[in-house]
Amino acid sequence: MKSKVSRLDRFVSQNSVFPISDVRLLIAQKRILLDGRAAHSVQQRVGEFTHVVLDGACLKDNAPVYIMLNKPKGVVSATKDLRHTTVIDLIEHPRKDELHIVGRLDFNTTGLVLLTNDGAWSRKISLPETKLAKTYEVTLAKALNDEYLAVFREGLYFAYEGITTKPAQLEILSSHTARLSLIEGKYHQVKRMFGFFQNEVLGLHRVSVGDIGLDGLEEGQSRLLTSREVMSVRSHSAPAHVAE
Ligand code: URA
Repeated sequence: MKSKVSRLDRFVSQNSVFPISDVRLLIAQKRILLDGRAAHSVQQRVGEFTHVVLDGACLKDNAPVYIMLNKPKGVVSATKDLRHTTVIDLIEHPRKDELHIVGRLDFNTTGLVLLTNDGAWSRKISLPETKLAKTYEVTLAKALNDEYLAVFREGLYFAYEGITTKPAQLEILSSHTARLSLIEGKYHQVKRMFGFFQNEVLGLHRVSVGDIGLDGLEEGQSRLLTSREVMSVRSHSAPAHVAE
């Protein structure tokens, strides 16, 4: 993949009338601001989302976008689909075409979908090593029992991928409902885990990803994440007590 990072002197020379040899002087004269602060070195990095100003004029303004959606049933977790409404269709944002989906939900699964154009942020959510919990409320066809707790904690072998699922936490809420927290997102993972017990998932709803919850957002509605929500992912470190 092409790097989205360049050195400050190269970036300025490619995006202004100044040759690369002038950039040192521009810095000394405090004419370049990076994310609101005077630049101090030609070697500073200009990343995908760095805000660059030269002589008061913006050379680059590409703030990252973070959005949550409460996905209804019958909506596809894709950016384009010829037949069905997509999660992107439900969002109103001038830069929505730049966004990718962080952890897809099945057609009939409802709940929290995160979208962003910040690849580093979404990787942090998706990587199992980060141990960020994705929590689902599940409604089942058959009654649950305590055997599920141990089996999900131990992990289940998925022959297709040749992997054993990471320890998952199950909380039984009633005879046919439970809350399940996973730190990974394999294809149809929740359905396949309950499938081990031949117990069909009748309803599946994602309530949270890490500390980010739907918190009353209406079905079909979306909103920008708060900076606290964005930071909760950046500052998340894997809890030691979640054993592998
Ligand atoms: N697991 C599933 O089986 N489906 C989803 O939509 C999400 C997790």
